[in-house]
Amino acid sequence: MKERIVYVCDRCGYEAPKWFGRCPACGAWNSAVEVKRVEKRGKSSPSSLTQLSRVNLEADDRIETKNKVIDSILGGGFVRGQVILLGGEPGIGKSTLALQIADRLVRVGRKVLYASGEESAKQIKLRAARIGASGEIFLTNDQDIDSVLRSSRDVDFLVIDSIQTFLDSEVGSVPGGMAQLRSVTSKVVEFSKRNSTVSLIIGHITKSGEIAGPKMIEHMVDTVLYFEGERTTDYRLLRVYKNRFGPSGEVGIFEMREDGLFGIENPVFVGDDLPFGNAVACVMEGSHPLIVQVQALVSRSKVPSPRRNSIGVEHRRVSAIIATMSKILKLPLDFHDVYVKVLGGLKVTDPAVDLAISAAVFSSLVEMEIGRTVFMGEVGLDGMVRSPYSLKRRIEVIRKSGFDEIAGNFEGANVLIRNLSDLSGVIR
Ligand code: TYD
Ligand code: MG
Repeated sequence: MKERIVYVCDRCGYEAPKWFGRCPACGAWNSAVEVKRVEKRGKSSPSSLTQLSRVNLEADDRIETKNKVIDSILGGGFVRGQVILLGGEPGIGKSTLALQIADRLVRVGRKVLYASGEESAKQIKLRAARIGASGEIFLTNDQDIDSVLRSSRDVDFLVIDSIQTFLDSEVGSVPGGMAQLRSVTSKVVEFSKRNSTVSLIIGHITKSGEIAGPKMIEHMVDTVLYFEGERTTDYRLLRVYKNRFGPSGEVGIFEMREDGLFGIENPVFVGDDLPFGNAVACVMEGSHPLIVQVQALVSRSKVPSPRRNSIGVEHRRVSAIIATMSKILKLPLDFHDVYVKVLGGLKVTDPAVDLAISAAVFSSLVEMEIGRTVFMGEVGLDGMVRSPYSLKRRIEVIRKSGFDEIAGNFEGANVLIRNLSDLSGVIR
């Protein structure tokens, strides 16, 4: 083993073999932090080879958490040595979920250590009481990562809450910086692999979207989960962004109740009142049809190039829809600012949301309300509307949720919208 010194920018994570006064990547001054790297040296021993036919896919590689949502989105539970990053805004429910998983694992005889640099043992106990968690979970408030890992040799499941509050004493900088974040994470990863411990790393993301944070360590872990939703509402979406041991893209849906997070199937993210500028959509996220509320605000622009802004849906998608509407419906959108928002803090990825965006924009422009019609369909640049996939499941869920008017270009739609120009027939 050989030690090597590298310099890491504490703001953006840029790494160089030599000290730098100003970071060439992000331009920060005096942000270089000295970090020790240990490298293997000398002749390495030959690799051991395995024949493909002998690779074991037996189920015992999986550690079920018995939390239905977690097991299902992770493809059957954890895998020994797996490192999972759980990210989300403060107050969204990260610690609650971690403690609930910890509780399930303790109850099937696993040893669990909950390492918290955020909260005292008393605070954790209060949360545990709320969700009825087992008293067999071990706690530590030690923020030194080496000591925590030294105490974790016989631990099956390790929670690090949050990664930003832990410290590697070999790195000469404050907690929360990029150098610490990377170093602490790499120690946890290395430990988990060597010790076959499953580690759940909690990471804060801030509303302001600072560069610092979980994004920087995504590539180091096996699995990345992010919470979506708003603290002010009860629904939480947990999305799999990356998973080395299973499919990504799946989502789990929870409701935050008095006594913890509970899995639910098809939540309706729609309010009772739908004034003009609102439209309802049914979108598939992972394998769940979700009924969501899309809002648009169209107002006369006071600047030469009008503003386009979107929350919860891709910006480019909205721009393309606005341009198509201007052209096909001959609407004066070039003179209007357009803001689009998906309610409930959700990030919609399903293109079938297009038609609801178009309807909401139209409704806001002409100031006429639409009502509780559910829109589904991707809108092409020619204004043609496409039928969404998994149509049967969607319609089933829409009906079950108490909506009966469905609009789109498919058989079974109450309101047939083949082309954007048909929209004017719906909104009158
Ligand atoms: P928490 O898990 O502490 O969020 P994070 O770790 O992401 O910052 O949970 C935050 C909120 O959830 C807090 O405002 C209290 C609420 N809560 C419930 O509504 N029910 C519960 O059972 C628990 C434990 C928390
Ligand atoms: Mg927390």
